[in-house]
Amino acid sequence: MKKYILALDQGTTSSRAILFDHTGTLCGSAAQEFPQHYPQPGWVEHDPNEIWNSQITVARKVLHDHHVDPHQVLAIGIANQRETTIVWDRKSGEPIAPAIVWQDRRTAAMCEQLRADGKARMICERTGLELDAYFSATKIKWILDHVPGARERARHGALAFGTIDTWLAWKLCGVHVTDVSNASRTMLFNIHLMRWDADLLHLFDIPEEMLPQVVSSSEEVGNTKESLFGAAIPVAGIAGDQQAATFGQACHTPGMVKNTYGTGCFMLMHAGRHAPVSHNRLLSTVGWRVDGDVDYLLEGSVFMGGATVQWLRDGLGIIKQSSDVEPLAASVPDSGGVMLVPAFTGLGAPHWDPYARGSLLGLTRGSTAAHIARAAVESIAYQSAELLMAMQKDVALPHRKIPVVEVRADGGAARNDMLMQFQADLLGVPVVRPKVTETTALGAAYLAGLAVGFWESRQEIAAQWQCERRFEPVMGADQRQALLARWAKAVQRARDWDA
Ligand code: G3P
Repeated sequence: MKKYILALDQGTTSSRAILFDHTGTLCGSAAQEFPQHYPQPGWVEHDPNEIWNSQITVARKVLHDHHVDPHQVLAIGIANQRETTIVWDRKSGEPIAPAIVWQDRRTAAMCEQLRADGKARMICERTGLELDAYFSATKIKWILDHVPGARERARHGALAFGTIDTWLAWKLCGVHVTDVSNASRTMLFNIHLMRWDADLLHLFDIPEEMLPQVVSSSEEVGNTKESLFGAAIPVAGIAGDQQAATFGQACHTPGMVKNTYGTGCFMLMHAGRHAPVSHNRLLSTVGWRVDGDVDYLLEGSVFMGGATVQWLRDGLGIIKQSSDVEPLAASVPDSGGVMLVPAFTGLGAPHWDPYARGSLLGLTRGSTAAHIARAAVESIAYQSAELLMAMQKDVALPHRKIPVVEVRADGGAARNDMLMQFQADLLGVPVVRPKVTETTALGAAYLAGLAVGFWESRQEIAAQWQCERRFEPVMGADQRQALLARWAKAVQRARDWDA
């Protein structure tokens, strides 16, 4: 009987379940979207039960549709949207509030206050993170501050906190755990000592009793309840989705980089066995812990990647569907001097400027929808180039020179050949697209499969990575520098517009 690993990829807008066989080949998948809730401007919530229901539904569906008996599934791996925060009652299993999603900005003022109090540096030194509402700590505090009696109940051990991995492991196996990669996104975890940080718990007034046990990214944490699949399947791999994608892209040695072109763009670089210190406002984060070894990553994220194309469709109405952007943008040889800085919700790394706003520059009477479409696609590449340049600066210190030889691309917009070529041109390094682009799920599967001996080693899984297409840079260095200099000017305008 053929054996499989089942990967659960619980993302921000959909829950997915994907089966992989021993060759790392995708053998079946199922996906379901679930509702997003926006109760107030800047707030983004999920219903934890909707997350669970959609996830278990697709997990069962993929087995059913592909006639796979649960006994053929050797292990389950979980990859999840990170930072999103749930607090629930341990006895009833019911959440005490909606999940506060990573995109939610309700705690921005709390962060500003902490910054004014001089806490940003200490937080960054311990957690590797920028002080920002993005991470879980202020979201947990918000729930404890706003749900009557919650902090007291938490102190007595009656409540549990978890990110989405924790919630799924709880529902699947009844265990209260999180892996090191997800823990590193809470802003409560000391990434050097690899444990919850007592000073940070004190600072945010969060009782330790509610925190999950921290486990490795590749280890058996429990078996699924028999009632769920009709067999007890070990959950053996857990990682935040961006870390999982980095693992799935086989970025196992320092300097290897992947960029995911989703709603936003998440670029992560392997940084070795010691937590890197960024001098360019990137995040230093835990990649995974496998066999006791911790690998660290540098991360940069931009908020508007594929979402920029959605804006062309839904905001400007110049395309009907997202896939129309490539032919429209390709109908002109270049953007005709038009530049779009899609700072619609501010700018992420390396600027971290919440007050910047979207700007369309360089318009002339000759500018057309095609030029704007091209500028929109190019803006995704410019922003990603800024991330890589920041990373290169961070690792170019005399004592740790790490060369970047290529960028591995995945995510929906990585299918856009024009974007990939322009990206390679701007970076001056090749961009490579793998055969399996479901790298997030694949990474979770690998982590789980390593724990149960389905795969023997990282070398074995790295050998499975195959290139589908390689985009070599062809633009001259002078032109590249000139374009990047113009982009820097445009970004400055987007940041100054209301100054
Ligand atoms: O940090 C947030 C990130 O994990 C979300 O990923 O793929 O759900 O948009 P995604």
